[in-house]
Amino acid sequence: MPRLAVFHADNLAVLRALPDACVDLIYIDPPFNTGKAQRRTRLVTVRDDHGDRVGFKGQLYRTIRGETSGYEDRFEDFLGFLQPRMEEAYRILAPSGSLFFHLDYREIHYCKVMLDRIFGRASFINEIIWAYDYGARSRKRWPAKHDNILWYAKNPEEYTFNFEAMDRIPYMAPALVGPRKAALGKTPTDVWWHTIVSPNSREKTGYATQKPRGIIDRIVKVHSRPGDVLCDFFAGSGTLGESAMQLGRNALLVDSNLEAVRVMRRRFAGMDVEWRRGAARAADSLLTLKEASAEQRRALASEGGEAGPRAAKPVAERAGRGRARRDRTGMSTEGRDDQA
Ligand SMILES: C[S@@+](CC[C@H](N)C(=O)[O-])C[C@H]1O[C@@H](n2cnc3c(N)ncnc32)[C@H](O)[C@@H]1O
Repeated sequence: MPRLAVFHADNLAVLRALPDACVDLIYIDPPFNTGKAQRRTRLVTVRDDHGDRVGFKGQLYRTIRGETSGYEDRFEDFLGFLQPRMEEAYRILAPSGSLFFHLDYREIHYCKVMLDRIFGRASFINEIIWAYDYGARSRKRWPAKHDNILWYAKNPEEYTFNFEAMDRIPYMAPALVGPRKAALGKTPTDVWWHTIVSPNSREKTGYATQKPRGIIDRIVKVHSRPGDVLCDFFAGSGTLGESAMQLGRNALLVDSNLEAVRVMRRRFAGMDVEWRRGAARAADSLLTLKEASAEQRRALASEGGEAGPRAAKPVAERAGRGRARRDRTGMSTEGRDDQA
């Protein structure tokens, strides 16, 4: 059974308590330094004949404002805040591990220079653009509708890249490529079109900056193996943790915001989770995750079902299996050409 450990703590203290080279994949989505407070209020609707909303079959519903979650997203010295945490991230990554660093256009260029210094420029592999199309459109400049995700491999000669685990996306003009290719779909590029977590979606937790499972699942499937130990030390609503649990990985999550921890408690109800306050037991929790990981690997090996080996070098591109699944992944074909 995959396991989670969730820490309500400042992530620097937790990171400093962890041993070297102990996690296989780090995904983080730090505060974006937008200069604004990030807040969202949960809205719950209940059936009420005098309600203000019309729902299915014309029935009336009343809206109740639930709890507000959020955090301040304002830093005097953003890089000064991030740098010691990223140095620790590099230290705790396993030799074949990868970092995925998610931000937006406001600070990403400064952070890339900082990460190039910490990881070495050769370790920078890709900048993934997550493109979406939601919300207001500025009339004064091009509306910014993308986030940036930097991928660094600790060792650029050896890292996990499960090409076959990649989901496939539909061709925009399937008639041009023939039925076999059209049914198979094509592999994604470094531009990922995906909806944001919509206010009506089932995965919505109410946390202001929650990221979509479709984006995180793709990273987890391609860049880690079943039984690996993953880490998100800016966990928010715990999207990486949920993805890890459902895909057979273990994860250590940290957030300093009590509201984030409350959201995670709801999200992970019924799952095998160790809850910790403060960083004191971080090394012990990591050990427990490592033991779970070793057990899962033994079970996978005995079933002969271990996920592919780590790529000694970037895996040669070859056609994978599976069909294009636009609806289930939430990925869209918008903006893509039809190169195979
Ligand atoms: C952009 S949100 C992460 C959202 C998350 N990816 C999700 O899908 O819900 C950033 C999170 O970092 C947390 N955070 C900020 N500073 C922190 C610190 N020093 N230690 C731990 N967590 C911190 C905030 O409380 C916030 O929940």
